[in-house]
Amino acid sequence: MSELWIQPTGGALGADVHGVDLSQPISDAVFGRIAQAWGEHLVLRFSGQKLDDPTLMKFSARFGELDRVPIAAVGFDRMDSGVVKEAEEWVAVISSVKKNGKAIGGLGSYELVWHTDMSYNPLPPRASLLYALEVPADGGNTGFLNMYSAYESLSPELKRAIEGKTCIHDSSRNSAGELRKGFQTTLDPRHTPGAVHPLVRLHPMTKRKALFLGRRPGAYIHGLPVEESEKLLNAIWAHATQEHFAWYQKWRASDLVMWDNRCVMHRRDAFDESLRRLMHRTQIVGEPVLAG
Ligand code: OGA
Ligand code: MN
Repeated sequence: MSELWIQPTGGALGADVHGVDLSQPISDAVFGRIAQAWGEHLVLRFSGQKLDDPTLMKFSARFGELDRVPIAAVGFDRMDSGVVKEAEEWVAVISSVKKNGKAIGGLGSYELVWHTDMSYNPLPPRASLLYALEVPADGGNTGFLNMYSAYESLSPELKRAIEGKTCIHDSSRNSAGELRKGFQTTLDPRHTPGAVHPLVRLHPMTKRKALFLGRRPGAYIHGLPVEESEKLLNAIWAHATQEHFAWYQKWRASDLVMWDNRCVMHRRDAFDESLRRLMHRTQIVGEPVLAG
């Protein structure tokens, strides 16, 4: 096997990991270098990997405890998703594919707005690993934002304005910004349902500070009059979502991409709904959110 080699994307974050075959056992030394590269680059891409579900689960579990697939996702008709029996509870399906008019996985083909995965929970996941089985030739790129850089480059005024502040992360909307079943639009963001987290988050491994935002709709900064909260949120979202903090993954089949959900936000471009895109996904259980 060739040498392990880390190649930064040259963008705001992300690196390719070359020279490792994830279908083979990974030594502690090699894993240590991967973990270190992940700390440095936030998003890692492993291309040309042939991964079955048990192997994807095994590799994922080296980064922490595997998270269970959300109950809602189990409602999909996953017969044609390729998920094997022993992986059913641990591997989620992200797909545009429909079987007899019924989705075989989540998130369809629509645009996903900038978000942190499941940050409306008290313990948002640490990481997600997304493995592409089938991808369209065009569209459906996934963007990632470096939230360390977004924090560090805030103006002194904005840094001061958010220092020690917490924010509500709206649990009523999905990553397309749409209202979930059983929820109503909250007109007053002070009453938004969801977990409350510090706006500045200390990463437990790198000890660096990151801006911690979930989704823009429904957000509210605790203790501020609604109008001030809206103004401040608009300013920090406008700052954080600038293109120079972003890097886009253009998918090829057999790419595995993992992101650190503690210091990265992501979004997805829409793609033609008639095109097939099929991903298998694992998620790692998170730890308490530390204020930065
Ligand atoms: C996710 C997600 C993006 C994509 O799985 O959490 O946001 O490209 N997916 O499908
Ligand atoms: Mn997501």
